Amino acid sequence: MPLSRFVFLALVLCFMTSVVAAQQAEKEKPAPHVVYVKAGHLFDATSDVLRENVVITVEDERIKSVAAAGEVKIPAGAEVIDLSKAWVLPGLIDCHVHLEARADKLDPIEDVRWTPFKGGFAGVVNAKTTLMAGFTSVRDVGSSPFFAVDLRDSINEGFIVGPRVVASGPPLSITGGHGDMNSFAPAVSNSMYPAEKDFAIVDGPEEVRHAVREQIKYRVDVIKLMATGGVMSQGDQPGAEQLTYEEMKMAVDEAHRANRKVAAHAHGTQGIKDAVRAGVDSIEHGSLIDDEGIQMMKERGTYLVADIYNDDYILGMAQQFGLPEANIEKERKLGKLQRENFARAVKGGVKIAFGTDAGVYPHGDNAKQFHYMVKYGLTPAQAIKAATVNAADLIDRKDIVGTIEAGKYADIIAVTANPLERIEVLEHVAFVMKGGKVYKDELTVEKK
Ligand code: ARG
Repeated sequence: MPLSRFVFLALVLCFMTSVVAAQQAEKEKPAPHVVYVKAGHLFDATSDVLRENVVITVEDERIKSVAAAGEVKIPAGAEVIDLSKAWVLPGLIDCHVHLEARADKLDPIEDVRWTPFKGGFAGVVNAKTTLMAGFTSVRDVGSSPFFAVDLRDSINEGFIVGPRVVASGPPLSITGGHGDMNSFAPAVSNSMYPAEKDFAIVDGPEEVRHAVREQIKYRVDVIKLMATGGVMSQGDQPGAEQLTYEEMKMAVDEAHRANRKVAAHAHGTQGIKDAVRAGVDSIEHGSLIDDEGIQMMKERGTYLVADIYNDDYILGMAQQFGLPEANIEKERKLGKLQRENFARAVKGGVKIAFGTDAGVYPHGDNAKQFHYMVKYGLTPAQAIKAATVNAADLIDRKDIVGTIEAGKYADIIAVTANPLERIEVLEHVAFVMKGGKVYKDELTVEKK
């Protein structure tokens, strides 16, 4: 047989075998699990208004379609989740949490007693509490190496119950800076990172380059910088710049080259501006931002993630859990200003994403911040968007979470009153679905 004919026949044979194999695979693939979610009032976060009587069709982990109830024919015997009396929203996203941390352990002596095991146990509990509060995604911006990466993977495997986690490593901090939190004698190590002493303590651009590359090697999603001093650290001042512009520029260049975003803890006026100029993707806290900083963030599209609930807890409960007077004193000077400056940033048109610093206050109370976001200038719809569509944009997941739209993960929550009229209702989320799986349901009246 001529060679060309042989080749042709061989090709035909290959094609036929693959068609048969594909048909076989099709037969063996289990039918998708389809659930119809009846949403009485839907805030899908693609606009500022509610849609009435909508059916969300969920197929396995994803949303298949979102349509007016009249347009969907629900087959007899189909699985239905009846939220027709509820207000349905996308799962909430908190862009600033520390799942390893406990808000009832604020005495600096805890630093010396700390072990990775305690952090791990706390993380398991805190992850579940966070999900049950309606937060289906979080960005963990600071923990020991590499707690958040392992937690993220364990949750994705289905081994631990929790939100989707966008993980950082330990924050990059200067020696004696906000991430080098101890004020102990030289003989006492930085006990926060016992496994790798001083892991993320960096001085000079070359050390920053190394730390960023190392964290990426260990599979972080995001790089966290300590641009200025802080409230909870010992012996520094929130207003003081710590990492230099050159150090932050190096971090941003290295991180962006590897497709990672950069979040900068920055309370102080100059530190905020240098971080923005260096190209960070978000300013965390932003407490002492001035008009120029606001203008710079607006122009560059840098997100502000301002933890404006935190002050209530630090001035209310933290003392009882061992937070020293010096830290409380720092908070007294900062908390009110931060809220006022948040309002100015909102007016100035800065992009806002929701982030609370959970861990400083108890996990699960994340939604208490909505009240302040509305009090200080956002409409309820804007506040919800800060915690859904905007947050998804900041964490680089807007193709998969943040709105209720076909193709996205079925991360869906529900509450029993209209959050556009009373934002505080988000403090009591009654239904939580993540990736098509129901984790909490206090609402269903009809479930077939
Ligand atoms: N982790 C932050 C710090 O120690 C918490 C700041 C809390 N205070 C506030 N007003 N947001 O600096």
